[in-house]
Amino acid sequence: MDAEDPSPENPIGVFDSGVGGLSVLREIRRALPGEDLIYVADSAYAPYGERAGDEILGRALAITQGLLEQRAKAVVVACNTATGAAAQVLRARYSLPIVAMEPALKPAAASTRSGVVGVLATSRTLASHKFVQLLGSHGQGVEVLVQPCPGLVERVECGDLAGPRTRALLEGYLVPLLQRRADTIVLGCTHYPHLRPLIAAIAGPEVAIVDSGAAVARQLRRRLELAGLLRGPGVVGRERFSTSGAVSAVQPVIAQLWAAEVPVRAFAAERFSAAVAG
Ligand code: DGL
Repeated sequence: MDAEDPSPENPIGVFDSGVGGLSVLREIRRALPGEDLIYVADSAYAPYGERAGDEILGRALAITQGLLEQRAKAVVVACNTATGAAAQVLRARYSLPIVAMEPALKPAAASTRSGVVGVLATSRTLASHKFVQLLGSHGQGVEVLVQPCPGLVERVECGDLAGPRTRALLEGYLVPLLQRRADTIVLGCTHYPHLRPLIAAIAGPEVAIVDSGAAVARQLRRRLELAGLLRGPGVVGRERFSTSGAVSAVQPVIAQLWAAEVPVRAFAAERFSAAVAG
């Protein structure tokens, strides 16, 4: 089912429920300047956070199949929620490198000085087996305060990174953690790094804010190297953006977050659903 004999010249596929994964794409671009990148925003189904696990898995399978048809040599699940619901199945089904998210609890637990770490994520991520396991292995010896953030993904999806509604929501989620002496905040959803300036303004300079985008980009680089799929030097990589939602609504937000007037195409994941059924 994978692209036959993937070549180092093939692109890397990256997807998320919407525009959140652009925070990961930015780190991938920084770490791998020569690679071609295909980004899929599953905006018609965003947010994933309140959907059933099986539905998210179905979306992840269909999108991965679509990326493979575009000859992707590796797939990055740039979404913590989809990672919890689908990464294991994707890895079992496909032999190409599948790189997925993990909230940066380990570095946060290692660097906190107050001994209190706050984790912001979707309800589904915090309830996932994967996150419970992560807490078990890296949450020992520190107090971990988990905070689901309903509504925050939607603020980023509409490009409102600093308006009063976004600020009010964020204050409601962050202030109780700060009052309980959290000095390190883990951004456990790829949408939240887009809100970093606002989070930093609310939390103040003493609080560290960590996410896992750069670590995922490094992991992708390692996996490509190991598989002999790293593109050679001397080329400048390009990005292609697509969405399952309304292109006219999503394009301006992608352009805002990517800081460039990039074109966005339609991505019809439904076309690939039949191919992955069963
Ligand atoms: N960016 C996704 C994540 O990292 C978004 C979640 C959602 O769509 O609810 O969890």
